[in-house]
Amino acid sequence: MFQNNKNKSFTSVVGLQWGDEGKGKIVDYLADKADLVVRFHGGDNAGHTIEVDGKVFKLSLLPSGIIRGKKCFIGSGVVVNIQSLISEIELVRSQGIAITSQNLAIADNASIILDLYKEVDAINESALGGAKIGTTKKGIGIAYSDKAMRRAIRVCDLFDDSILEDCLKRIFDYHLSTSFIGLTNLPSYDAALASIKINREKIREFVVPFFDFTQKATGNILFEGAQGFGLDINYGTYPYVTSSSTVCGSIFTGSGFGLTNIDDNIGVLKAYATRVGEGPFPTEDNGSFGESLQSIGQEVGTVTKRRRRCGALDLVFAKQAARLCGVNQIALTKLDVLDGFDSIPVCTSYTINGKTFDYIPSSRADFANIVPNYQYFEGWSKQAKTENVKAFNDLPQNAVAYLKFIEEFLEIPISIVSTGKDREDTILR
Ligand code: GDP
Ligand code: IMO
Ligand code: MG
Repeated sequence: MFQNNKNKSFTSVVGLQWGDEGKGKIVDYLADKADLVVRFHGGDNAGHTIEVDGKVFKLSLLPSGIIRGKKCFIGSGVVVNIQSLISEIELVRSQGIAITSQNLAIADNASIILDLYKEVDAINESALGGAKIGTTKKGIGIAYSDKAMRRAIRVCDLFDDSILEDCLKRIFDYHLSTSFIGLTNLPSYDAALASIKINREKIREFVVPFFDFTQKATGNILFEGAQGFGLDINYGTYPYVTSSSTVCGSIFTGSGFGLTNIDDNIGVLKAYATRVGEGPFPTEDNGSFGESLQSIGQEVGTVTKRRRRCGALDLVFAKQAARLCGVNQIALTKLDVLDGFDSIPVCTSYTINGKTFDYIPSSRADFANIVPNYQYFEGWSKQAKTENVKAFNDLPQNAVAYLKFIEEFLEIPISIVSTGKDREDTILR
């Protein structure tokens, strides 16, 4: 994946569906050859699971390279809940992974998430009633909107008492006057300030001047996307999206690397589709196919433990995602979950109000009227399984036909196939 003829090479991994495509597993796999793994957007709404020899790691803010002891960077575009980060560091350390200032750096200009934001997130959600987004209630949207409103506290501000107190006061004044009207049990500014002052000491050693850090970084640099195309703030199924940009363009603005080019741009695509939270999902299957995918694929949210909605692979959506992310390779995950189905549906176009579409329109009025059109593929038996298969030539013929169809439809090669949770259950073509 990496080119060796210059002092930096760039590989990116982004999700092409609604998140949870298996990005963590793919990043961990590729991190073997990486020198630095970088998160560039999102926050602890992400849940990236990695399995190595039966040991399970769940990461939300730490880049997945941490499991291999690689140097990791939480970039400028990430929104960081300091308390979550500290808890995550402690948990991962308790699983035997060393985390020091040698292998973890945090951009000094990343914005932080206050606990207050989580409460505002929950209040906003309940005010929306039936129109709620189904957020992770981690305060992500509030953090990005405070950032856009130029109210946010950044990591560097934590270490200057006067700036910190000033910013925190402004944030409390604003949110207490808008979000908490009528509530008696108000969050306390003093408690928030005291807790920040304790927590900042626990992360001080990791904080770096972002420009100096990124300019000096050399070698194989791997960018780890969070969420997925369908949740992108510009291109996703708005308003049922997250509050950051999830496409590759976000690397250019959120990593601090001032990139002009990405060498290997990998889109992660699950062999079927899932979504957690509310919002349009054209191929959602509420029948036995969807239920089987949910139970065989163990489709439960890492962060919120909600059941993921399941359905057929949507190639219309995937093609649009791949184009807008500019991906030049696909990592196809969870192929093994399809073992044993007689027939596998794949959506290849939409009909909306009698008209055929090869893309998802922008208007939410159209979302409700999408009728997916399917092609059906002959499945493969549980005996001729893909589960744990480690060589492309050992895959059942019908599974290969399924992969070839995806490649041809997307006009992008599948360079990685994942056939199980474990790091070893991976085929590199
Ligand atoms: P991410 O958010 O994109 O990193 O994905 P998650 O980690 O939230 O969800 C993917 C889930 O599928 C995790 O529990 C992984 O351990 C699991 N997983 C990843 N790849 C495979 C695979 O090829 N087969 C199976 N059965 N599970 C996989
Ligand atoms: P990873 O990185 C799946 C969804 C939430 C909700 C919407 C907005 O593990 O793929 P937010 O809390 O971001 O304001 O919620 O986005 N969501 C995810 N769904 N995987 C994720 O991350 C997600 N992060 C946010 O469920 O629908
Ligand atoms: Mg996830």
